[in-house]
Amino acid sequence: MSTLAFLWHFLAIFIIASCALPSLPSRIHDHRSSPSLPSTIIHELPKGTWLENLVIRQTEGNALVTLLSSPRSCLGIVELYHDIFNIVAGNFSVKAGSSTPGSYSIWEIDMRNRDAVTTKIADIPGSGFLNGMTVLDPVTGILLVADSLLSVVWSVNVRTGHVAVALNDTTMAPTTDGTISLGINGLRVVDSNLYYDNSNKATFNRIPVDLHTGQATGPAVTLFQGSSAEILPDDFAIDFEGNAWVVTGGQMFLLPGATGSQSIGMEFVAGSVTETRITGWTSTKFGTRQADVERGSVYVTTDGGPLAYRDGNFTAGGMLVRIDTADLKLY
Ligand SMILES: *[C@@H]1O[C@H](CO)[C@@H](O)[C@H](O)[C@H]1NC(C)=O
Ligand SMILES: *[C@@H]1O[C@H](CO)[C@@H](O)[C@H](O)[C@H]1NC(C)=O
Ligand SMILES: *[C@@H]1O[C@H](CO)[C@@H](O)[C@H](O)[C@H]1NC(C)=O
Repeated sequence: MSTLAFLWHFLAIFIIASCALPSLPSRIHDHRSSPSLPSTIIHELPKGTWLENLVIRQTEGNALVTLLSSPRSCLGIVELYHDIFNIVAGNFSVKAGSSTPGSYSIWEIDMRNRDAVTTKIADIPGSGFLNGMTVLDPVTGILLVADSLLSVVWSVNVRTGHVAVALNDTTMAPTTDGTISLGINGLRVVDSNLYYDNSNKATFNRIPVDLHTGQATGPAVTLFQGSSAEILPDDFAIDFEGNAWVVTGGQMFLLPGATGSQSIGMEFVAGSVTETRITGWTSTKFGTRQADVERGSVYVTTDGGPLAYRDGNFTAGGMLVRIDTADLKLY
């Protein structure tokens, strides 16, 4: 199969232009009373299209999203250099909600020219369920990848293909209560700490790391403990003030001052548990265009409701949605 065919049929990366859209009139709410920020649908894909993760491209500010519902599922994505992306690919069944351990690999997608060129960086035969990905050391080309099943963070050197277990901590472990096993999910490096959430445990955590190896230089701390009956934290974004914006189910919640404190509270800021249109929120990233930066816009990917993949009763397609965080007047 040609490289391009491989890209479109298996890696299933879609570019969604988020430009030239009218901005909503700014609405100011008391964010303490109820979830308040409106969600603007930028693009909706057909029902049964699970948008799993995204990056906002450095050069033109469009979103590049990964699909979990394609034959070869794609998950975490980063833009390591301008127009050079890395993604996590593997076998995950959205219908059964199950991962095939050992099926994961890390790929490079070079989009500097018209025809994208895909190259496999490394297989990870020891993987359980690879999920979020972030850049650790851009100089030597080291990425960190969350393993939601095996309770570890893998380091991957994109230049040499070297793969190692960087972190292995109980705060990253899933619970085994019969639902889907989903421990560590999203992860981000800020200063010399790795921040990560755990979906099953409904936590947000910090561990100090060596910025070249990713290995722990101190113990992990759980900064936020939520109720697992109320939230299943998925991926998150951290803004310039160190606030974390976390997606869960059909909502987004805010962890104010997430990177600055020992223990933090949470508040829902967007979406609703009863919403059936914009549902199944999977990841979020801040926009990079001038208008996006001035509005504090985060872009959210959705899957259209994860249970609908099992039951077939879709109420919406996967979407790219915009939420303007500056409307909360936090900044
Ligand atoms: C992928 O996962 C499906 C469903 O879990 C399974 O039936 C299939 O054998 C797996 N394929 C590979 C190549 O691992
Ligand atoms: C993580 O640590 C546990 C306990 O030491 C060990 O049993 C497990 O094999 C480790 N996992 C990986 C993927 O290295
Ligand atoms: C889809 O069907 C399942 C099982 O019957 C049900 O629990 C769920 O509420 C339904 N979802 C919607 C959006 O109607």
